[in-house]
Formats: sequence, structure tokens, C-alpha cells
Amino acid sequence: MSSQNKHFISLNDWSNQNLLALLDRADELKKLRYRSRKAEGKVLGLLFFNPSLRTKVSFEAAAIHLGAGSSIISPGSGSWTLETEFGAVMNGNKTEHLKEAIQVLSRYCDAIGVRAFSTLKDQDADYTERLMKSVAHYAEVPVINMESAMEHPCQAMADWMTIRELFGKNALPDKKLVLTWAPHPSPLPQAVPVSVLDMASRSGIQVTLACPPEMVPDTQFIDRFKQQCATYGNNLVIDHDQQSALTGADVVYAKSWASPIVYQNPLEEARLRKEKYQYWTLDADKMQYTNEAYFMHCLPVRRNVVVSDDVLDSPNARHIDEAENRLHVQKSILMQLWDLSL
Ligand code: CP
Repeated sequence: MSSQNKHFISLNDWSNQNLLALLDRADELKKLRYRSRKAEGKVLGLLFFNPSLRTKVSFEAAAIHLGAGSSIISPGSGSWTLETEFGAVMNGNKTEHLKEAIQVLSRYCDAIGVRAFSTLKDQDADYTERLMKSVAHYAEVPVINMESAMEHPCQAMADWMTIRELFGKNALPDKKLVLTWAPHPSPLPQAVPVSVLDMASRSGIQVTLACPPEMVPDTQFIDRFKQQCATYGNNLVIDHDQQSALTGADVVYAKSWASPIVYQNPLEEARLRKEKYQYWTLDADKMQYTNEAYFMHCLPVRRNVVVSDDVLDSPNARHIDEAENRLHVQKSILMQLWDLSL
């Protein structure tokens, strides 16, 4: 694998060949239950603007398994509140600017993971990944995207690893993955669905996006994924009828996300998500249309809102495996960024 990439911010920055090499190594790390001291003395900084269970613990565990240490920075909760706007007059409640914070962390850490969700308010800032790009600009060490406005690449890699475990590395074109939208009490960012579609369209699996018409992600993302499918010999189908979309599915990935109209009309977006399309909850009756499909979800999940207990508790559910695979793919990514071999 070439070390062409300094950061792990977007799948789009990496060649498919290098992503597959990361997955192959993650498979090996999992098989070996790998532990070493190869990264002894290194420090992984983990900057969380938003809460986490899996990302936090899996990155800390990955660092420990490689012999490295980690430091969690939670702005406003144990560390200073951070201003992220450039040119801001900081006479409000923000104490320190991202510009200094990232440069300082670079002097202490050997890589910096950053979690900064979309606020679903500034579409241009979100779609251009303004904050993550600013971090990369000021960082003097590798930056890892732990979920940004529009991408969750570590989740996508763990999901890809899980799908390869289910169907083998070469059987993907025969299989159908359905990403199905689900209702939720609050508007959630589009990072996970965008990354699932990104990963699936690269993997060769047949991809169906099942969602109400208003929930389709912006054309710029969909067009890129259709192009990727054309490159990798598969197809991206968009189906607004959940039953027809689920028919014949081999794996069903459920997720809620906000309609892109949230930026212009949050009240209408909430009405659609909470009232009009409540019936999109995934349940065992709907899974009957599938080809005894496996179930996936990135977690955390709202039981009996996004997906029913009977699906989550079924033998075909693989959401815990996905969470485990975060550990292995992130260990593989750290080894690549730190130039460590097995
Ligand atoms: N899937 C995921 O990123 O989980 P956390 O939000 O708990 O980190």
C-alpha cells in the first residue's frame, strides 16, 4: 500500500486499491486479535465536538492495542470552548480559536481525530466540509475524520468490512444492499447515509436507496455515487416505495437522516420526518420481503422508532459486528498513517 495520504478525512481522497488494502489488513488484525508495542510513545489526540460511545472507545482501544496513548479533548466540557468561525470577534462564550488549538495539539500529538457534526444550518459550510478542511490546514500531523458534516469514513470502512465478512470479497455483485430511511424525533446529519452510499457504490454490491422523495441526498452526492457504480460495475437505484425496494434485499441498512430541505425549511422537514413518513420504521413484517436479509445499523439506534425490537434482536442482525469492526479498521488506518507494518 502506498503512503500517498497524510490524512484519513474522506474515502474520496483514497484510491479503492488502498482502501481495500486497509480492509485486508483490518481482517488480519481481527483474526490475530492484534496487540503490539509498535506505536509506543505515540499520542492520539481525539477532539470531540459531539458525543460518542463507539468512536471514542474504539479509537482509544486501537491506540492501546498498538502501544500508543490517547488524549480526549471535549471543548466546553473539561477543555476550553472553541470558536470555529474565521474572523470572529470572540467577545462571546468561545474562549479559544480552532486555529491555535489545532496547531498546539499538533505539537503534542502524532495524529488528531476530529468529530464535528453538521448543525444542519449552513448548507455551504456542510457541503464543502469547511471545518474539517480548516483542521487539516492547521494540523501538522495526520487528521482522522471521526464524523464530519457530510462523511463518516471510519464507519463506512467498518461497514464495508462487515459486508465482506457476510458475502466474501468477490461475491458482492450478486448481492443487493438496501439503505432504507427511517423516522426519528430529531433531524440527523447526512454523514452516515452519504458514507454508506459512498462505500457501497465502491464495493461492487448492487445498491438501492429507499427513501421518501424529500429525503434523497443532494444531487451532487447522488451523481458521484452513480458515477462510482458505473466504475465498479454495479448500480444505484432510488426507490420511494419501501416494500418494492426491500424485495430481494440481501442486506438492509436502516438509518434516519434529515431531508436536505432542513436548511431552508426546518419546520416542514420536521413534519415530514415525524408525521408524514412515520410508517417507514423498519420491522420484521417488512423484512419478510427481503431475501432473509442481514440487518445493519451504525448505532446508536432508537428502538421501535427507527427499527423494531424484533429486527434488532433477530439472528440476522449484524449491528454489533459493525461496531466491533470499527476497532479493527481504525487500527489499520492508524498503522497506515503512522507507517507501521504488521
Ligand atoms: N457509530 C458511531 O459513530 O457511534 P458513536 O456516535 O457512538 O461514536
